[in-house]
Amino acid sequence: MSPFQLTRTLPEDTMGAALRTDVLHGLTRTPKELPPKWFYDSRGSDLFEEITRLPEYYPTRAEREILVDRAAEIAAATGARTLVELGSGSSEKTRHLLDALTDLRAYVPVDVSESALVGAAEVLLAARPGLQVHAIVADFTQGMELPDTPGPRLVAFLGGTIGNLLPDERKAFLRSVRGLLAPGDALLLGTDLVKDEEVLVAAYDDAAGVTAEFNKNVLAVMDRELDADFRPHDFDHVAVWNAQEEWIEMRLRARRALNVKIRELDLMVPFEAGEEIRTEVSAKFRQDGVRAELEAVGLKLSEWWTDAAGRFALSLSTAV
Ligand code: SAH
Ligand code: TRP
Repeated sequence: MSPFQLTRTLPEDTMGAALRTDVLHGLTRTPKELPPKWFYDSRGSDLFEEITRLPEYYPTRAEREILVDRAAEIAAATGARTLVELGSGSSEKTRHLLDALTDLRAYVPVDVSESALVGAAEVLLAARPGLQVHAIVADFTQGMELPDTPGPRLVAFLGGTIGNLLPDERKAFLRSVRGLLAPGDALLLGTDLVKDEEVLVAAYDDAAGVTAEFNKNVLAVMDRELDADFRPHDFDHVAVWNAQEEWIEMRLRARRALNVKIRELDLMVPFEAGEEIRTEVSAKFRQDGVRAELEAVGLKLSEWWTDAAGRFALSLSTAV
């Protein structure tokens, strides 16, 4: 069998249809909002990789530190023969796991970004010719079908991406992840932790403006895919800490009153000066909350590891 397979679980145009529905719904309501998965076209995936290297963006470095320290323990505890990774992106940190999982037969990265999956597989296979990589282009919020590979299965969901789901979506998502696991299979979950507001805001509003460019990329996606006429310089990038919800909110704020045409939708979207689109939340967690959310879907927290500075946590839980 070829060491690399790529499966699109969605028909070619499903993404287009979903984008139209999300934009129509999100930009005709008050307040305006858009779901975050539309950031990640190939330019968006590249910009995110740049974010992970910014001095202010600590989560990637903190999570890598934990993975380096704990990979051997994770391998011993799970004995995984299949590693499934949701929202795998570049799979850059994942190599620490891949190297430690000595019984591994298959790596199954799942992402909406086909360019990220292909790029990641090229890098991984160059260094590990024996590895079986079965990449899946899919929306992990829509229920996934996985290839029939040997158990035990370890599902990894890194990067704090779970924080980009709203609480209701998070619950449905965790339930669907639990559905992918047989008793004894495990979930490795990366969660960013509640900390000082200044540190959090800087991580989502960096001095070099890369995060601003990433946030505005969603406008470029709509311009290209829906023949819209958003202009990036008509909007400001805004990152605010919502202390009530304990999440960072990313917004795009209109610099002046605007009417934006979205030709594919036959829609004119009015903006008042200062009006915002919420483009993303990034929730921050505490151990008790994570344990309770996992328990609610039948996952038992067995390990909770943080980096030395206590900024980020990686937890291992087992399907009961
Ligand atoms: N795991 C990597 C990347 C995190 S960025 C890391 O830790 O650095 C989030 C990743 O999830 C991106 O690659 C993005 O394309 C993917 N993603 C976002 N929403 C998704 C969805 N609904 N379904 C599948 N993948 C998604
Ligand atoms: N999962 C990442 C996080 O919440 C995604 C992310 C980082 C992000 N920076 C961003 C999303 C800026 C939108 C805008 O940390």
